[in-house]
Amino acid sequence: MGQLVLAAKVTHVPSLMLSEQPGSPLRAAREAAVLSLRELGRRAKQRGVTSFVVFDTHWLSNFGYHINANARHRGSFTSHEAPQMMQDLRYDLPGDTQLAKAIAGDAGLNVIAHQVASLGLEYGTIVPMHYMNPDGFAKVVSVASPLFTSLDESRILGEATRRAIEKSGERVAILASGSLSHRLWPNKRLGPEAWTSIASEFNRQVDLRVLELWQSRRYREFLDMLPDYATKCNGEGGMADSIMLFAALGWYEYGGRAEQLCEYFPSSGSGQVNVEFHVEA
Ligand SMILES: [Fe+2]
Repeated sequence: MGQLVLAAKVTHVPSLMLSEQPGSPLRAAREAAVLSLRELGRRAKQRGVTSFVVFDTHWLSNFGYHINANARHRGSFTSHEAPQMMQDLRYDLPGDTQLAKAIAGDAGLNVIAHQVASLGLEYGTIVPMHYMNPDGFAKVVSVASPLFTSLDESRILGEATRRAIEKSGERVAILASGSLSHRLWPNKRLGPEAWTSIASEFNRQVDLRVLELWQSRRYREFLDMLPDYATKCNGEGGMADSIMLFAALGWYEYGGRAEQLCEYFPSSGSGQVNVEFHVEA
């Protein structure tokens, strides 16, 4: 029997990796987030994680649900939207074809688990794996976020993911890889200060409230506000990552501890954080 042993909401902003360049002015601003991603990787390894399932809000789909089911994820990534930030980034990670296919098969939606060697990973998966799974100790399944879907469908996929995990022989970490609020700075406001400032005070206030709700395990209220939160606070990929994560955790039944691993921080106008949602052993 497989088991979900780690669940977390994580950031994947490119400035994390930019901050590691020698002399980067971003180093201090991103250090806590970088360290907490590494800590999540350490915990995953310690708990014997064999597969990561990453709900990637940076792999956006116009047409239905997709899962990267490649047995090996190998490539050199340059971001099409920000080639100056993410360029020629090499990755070489094992995949989990069986688990990817099981998730797709169990969902009952029109989910396609692809085995196409040239289908690469997006940076919503590459960045967290860079810190959490640098040596490829665990396999990786990347799940896209569809733009034209509903909360109910994403919830079904999250529930299917949990069932597939439990039927597998794997010890699995689920990552919801995406922002909290996600209004970005407009072009004319892009500059060095955009890296470390929020584009909407309204969004920041709602993000902070969400973190409070998580801290006090008021998940029902969070889930009830999630559709409005995703719309009014410019949710990345419709916050499909959070929908799928909470569906996998059990939705209203989940009552575990939320452990915030770094301070909430802004990036290009959006709100970011790393939070582990503890699951029963
Ligand atoms: Fe993103």
